[in-house]
Amino acid sequence: MLYLTREEMQAVCPMGDAFTALEEAFTLYVKGEADVPLRVGIDVPAHNGQALFMPARAGDALGIKIVSTYPDNPKAGLPVTPATMLVIDSATGIVSAMMDGTYLTSLRTAAGAGVATRLLAPEGATVGALIGLGGQGPCQFDALVEAVPTLKEIRVYDMDAARREAFAKERDGKHGIAVIPVDSGDEAVRGAQVVTTVTTARAPVFSYEAVTAPCHINAIGSYTPEMQELPPELVANCDLLALDTADGVLNESGDILKPLKAGLLEGKKIDTEIGTLLLERHKRGAGDITVYKSTGSGVMDTVSATFIVEKALEKGLGTQIG
Ligand SMILES: NC(=O)c1ccc[n+]([C@@H]2O[C@H](COP(=O)([O-])OP(=O)(O)OC[C@H]3O[C@@H](n4cnc5c(N)ncnc54)[C@H](O)[C@@H]3O)[C@@H](O)[C@H]2O)c1
Repeated sequence: MLYLTREEMQAVCPMGDAFTALEEAFTLYVKGEADVPLRVGIDVPAHNGQALFMPARAGDALGIKIVSTYPDNPKAGLPVTPATMLVIDSATGIVSAMMDGTYLTSLRTAAGAGVATRLLAPEGATVGALIGLGGQGPCQFDALVEAVPTLKEIRVYDMDAARREAFAKERDGKHGIAVIPVDSGDEAVRGAQVVTTVTTARAPVFSYEAVTAPCHINAIGSYTPEMQELPPELVANCDLLALDTADGVLNESGDILKPLKAGLLEGKKIDTEIGTLLLERHKRGAGDITVYKSTGSGVMDTVSATFIVEKALEKGLGTQIG
């Protein structure tokens, strides 16, 4: 079995390559060549924990991500949500690789948004915005830069002021892009042509009035019915709503479920998946406001992990164990 560290994963799979893996994941999914059972959760009351198992197959890629939530872990200096990805050889059923599931999640989530951005962002976009600078923030930033090579400025906002200052300081000027910390979601979004939100918010992180057409917005954070990042008017009035998977988003995300419950989405097409748009080589309208909503899927993990293993074997990276 091949064991890959986060550093080895970074070395073999830069963001642009991860886009290739995610395009494959999304298109295999909509072509019906994937099998993604519901994730299984097991509570561990004795240790105030829960283990989540996310299996998937897509084409020849087979694997399972194990993500646990143990709120007491920090007392022992351990992460709250440790994650590990296992890749399984689909020809033999034997586990063939193990890798850092936390980094894989950040990479595949950002690459998913990147693929959507590359397809849907206004041509020649120069101003971007990133709202939410926690664990997922750095990879989401890299995905914006990779997807939109014309960006000159990225405004960054997090409710934690120290975090936005530190993030901007670390990245300002790299890639020839000015990274500007701002004081509100509206300030970040106003005049931006590409926006990513990746927060744990339960209410919109910017107002509908702040959005100016043309604009493409990636909403990544909300994965429960209570969580919400997008103003409901945006979801109701955008020209195109694209989902990573309809199954996940329409069952889980408050970004869609809240406006749906309020009756704001009547007559609107809300189940378009990004894989279908990729297969159709969708062309955006010049003045469109588009939204990509993601809650994540085991297909994204399994296809990108399998891709990383192939690259690592080609380059001779990783440690063979067992
Ligand atoms: N779609 C997917 O596949 C996917 C994958 C991974 C994580 N996520 C979700 O993305 C979200 C962010 O993940 P993370 O690991 O970065 O979390 P995190 O806790 O490390 O960071 C969240 C950040 O959001 C900021 N924030 C919270 N509310 C805000 C608000 N109203 N305005 C501005 N900033 C605000 C916090 O200050 C924090 O810096 C989580 O909800 C997570 O579950 C989604």
